[in-house]
Formats: sequence, C-alpha cells, structure tokens
Amino acid sequence: MPLEDCKVLDLPKIEDARGNLTFVEGMNHIPFDIKRVYYLYDVPGGSDRGAHAHKDLHQFMIAMSGSFDVVLDDGYNKKRFHLNRSYFGIYICPMMWRYLDNFSSGAVCMVMASAPYDESDYIRDYGDFRQAVGVAP
Ligand code: TYD
Repeated sequence: MPLEDCKVLDLPKIEDARGNLTFVEGMNHIPFDIKRVYYLYDVPGGSDRGAHAHKDLHQFMIAMSGSFDVVLDDGYNKKRFHLNRSYFGIYICPMMWRYLDNFSSGAVCMVMASAPYDESDYIRDYGDFRQAVGVAP
C-alpha cells in the first residue's frame, strides 16, 4: 500500500482543569477494529525497534509519554514522523516497512493492532519486503 495511506490522525481531547482526556474508538477514530494493544517502554537511549513489515496487520501508534520517531517506507518512498503528544498518532497500513528510533528517556509507545500476535504476518527481511512490493526482482 502507498505511503500516502499512512496518516497522522488527531484524536478527541477533552480539556479539563483536572487533566485532559483522550479516547480511541475502533472504526471511528481509526480505520480498523482494535484486537490487541501492546506498548514499548524502558527503551534504552539509542535503541531502534521495529524494522519489519506486516502483511495484513493495521496498526495505530501513539506516544503516550515522551517522544520518538517512526520511519515508514513503502519500498518506493520513506517518511519520518515525530510523535510527541498523546492526542494524535500515526496509522500504519499493511505492507509498510517501519522502524522506530530517537526515543526520549521515559518514552512509551502504545500500539493498537487489528489482529492478535501472529509471527507469520511479519516480513522481517528488507530484501523480501522489496521483492513483495515489486521494487526488487
Ligand atoms: P517485535 O514485534 O519483533 O518487536 P520490535 O519489532 O519492536 O523489535 O516483537 C518482539 C518480541 O515480542 C517477539 O519475540 C514477539 C513478541 N511479541 C509478542 O509475543 N506479542 C506481541 O503482541 C508483540 C508485538 C510481540
């Protein structure tokens, strides 16, 4: 799928003197039903995560605390996104190579996913990914 299908999506923000509140509804604020949530935390400085693609999985990533970058690559074009607030996130469509870097200290990356964990949905080799999207022979 092309990079333009991956977008930063703004979430509702209920501002309140007692603290702000944001919520996410599957098929409303994000274009899939949420079947799994996981999060990355205690990421050591200088670490990279990700570096894979998913065949069918849709994901939505939010910086719940701190900040980090998400680099998306459809095989033809690459784009870097900086996530640093908990009221927006990046929607990642299937067949998109991604890696995460530039984690601040205390960063927490929450990911909502359209399916339970399934190792067979991963493409972990960049050459295999380029072949799958038709860039490499
Ligand atoms: P992985 O997705 O490879 O993390 P990253 O690409 O950020 O380095 O997952 C790391 C490990 O965690 C891998 O052994 C699979 C396991 N895992 C689960 O068991 N369930 C999950 O929902 C996820 C995301 C990972």
